[in-house]
Amino acid sequence: MNMNDLIVKKRDGGALSKDEIRYFINGYTEGEIPDYQAAALLMAIFFRKMDKFETFELTDAMRYSGDTIDLAGVRGIKVDKHSTGGVGDKTTLIVAPLAAACGIPIAKMSGRGLGFTGGTVDKLEAIPGFRTAMEPEDFLQQVNDIGIAVIGQTAHITPADKKLYALRDVTGTVENLSLIASSIMSKKLAAGSDAIVLDVKCGRGAFMEEQAEAEALGEIMCEIGRAAGKKTVAAITDMSQPLGKAVGNSLEVIEAIETLKGRGPSDITALSLCLAGIMICLGGRVKTTAEGKILARQALESGAGLNKLRSFIARQGGDERVIDDYELFPQSSLRREILAREGGFINGIDARAIGLASQHTGAGRRTKEDDIDLSAGIVLHKKTGDKVSKGECLATVFSSSQGRLADAEKEVARAFDISKEKKGEPKLVKKVLGL
Ligand code: URA
Repeated sequence: MNMNDLIVKKRDGGALSKDEIRYFINGYTEGEIPDYQAAALLMAIFFRKMDKFETFELTDAMRYSGDTIDLAGVRGIKVDKHSTGGVGDKTTLIVAPLAAACGIPIAKMSGRGLGFTGGTVDKLEAIPGFRTAMEPEDFLQQVNDIGIAVIGQTAHITPADKKLYALRDVTGTVENLSLIASSIMSKKLAAGSDAIVLDVKCGRGAFMEEQAEAEALGEIMCEIGRAAGKKTVAAITDMSQPLGKAVGNSLEVIEAIETLKGRGPSDITALSLCLAGIMICLGGRVKTTAEGKILARQALESGAGLNKLRSFIARQGGDERVIDDYELFPQSSLRREILAREGGFINGIDARAIGLASQHTGAGRRTKEDDIDLSAGIVLHKKTGDKVSKGECLATVFSSSQGRLADAEKEVARAFDISKEKKGEPKLVKKVLGL
């Protein structure tokens, strides 16, 4: 077998066999296949696509390209949750403690942000002292003791995805159904949970802008999960505007805490309860997702979710006092208010533009190696459908650099679409697949 033949086969629209896919994944992971040939194959896949069989085989080859996690030592049905990536998506920080408070063991591996999307590990690291690296035995012990642990992805899990994702990111080959599905599902399957809840985003701030594309992605990921013997459910949710009001690491943790105190924005609260309800149902506590949602709401209203977050932060070395004192989070030295140039209704807030603006503030990375400013970001004061008067504050931008603030400011102002007529608000949860 040789790589050139595989590239030509895919370039001409052929389907790769199981052995060919394994040859590629193993050879690339081992460093035997160079980046230029891997990039050529990715581009051929991007244009010619993969069929279902190839997508399943690609996922499997990546899943076993490194270590896999054995969660057999954790009692109960372990349920994982994954978002395909968005702007202002801090739901894991809310959903994981809520589900754990309802008795669902959460043994979760999360990623860092890249480009205009954020990542849970960066958000958790905004909590002073919080550790996202842990020995495997301590990880399992923590889940058995307090019902929840979240760690960063280790270098040994799905190394093929790590290399390929970095290459896709710089070769214009991210937005392909098979490549996204195999990338996400290989990690989820290697992480060892019994059931998986996927939050598949659609809209301007998502990889899949159209709902039909997001549904196709949700369908194939559910099929991959089920074929691997895991209950898998996908919620197709809106990412046309940022989720909640805060974008940026410490700002998002504060919003998650506020949500667990019952004071969160309505969209983030609704989505968190929906996802937690599905997790509680898949975890076997109740028969329907509606019953799961009732339990999640009770955990929110009773403060059980907030208490779970508190013990989770403390157990991973974080300063749990942040829950009552937001000044303990890193603080930006500069802030700027963005005022409406005209009055009317907010017709839309371009999630991608806000994500890019957040990156400009220093909250996000341009390359994997970039350091981030944990205090920086944006707080929106208006959301789609809201009325606004000329001169009213639309958003506050936080940064510690004048130059960054100025770049972000322009992007935030551009993101708001204001019109005289009020148009409909986007539907938050568009569909749930796989139930
Ligand atoms: N998230 C992933 O982990 N992989 C992708 O390809 C896209 C989003």
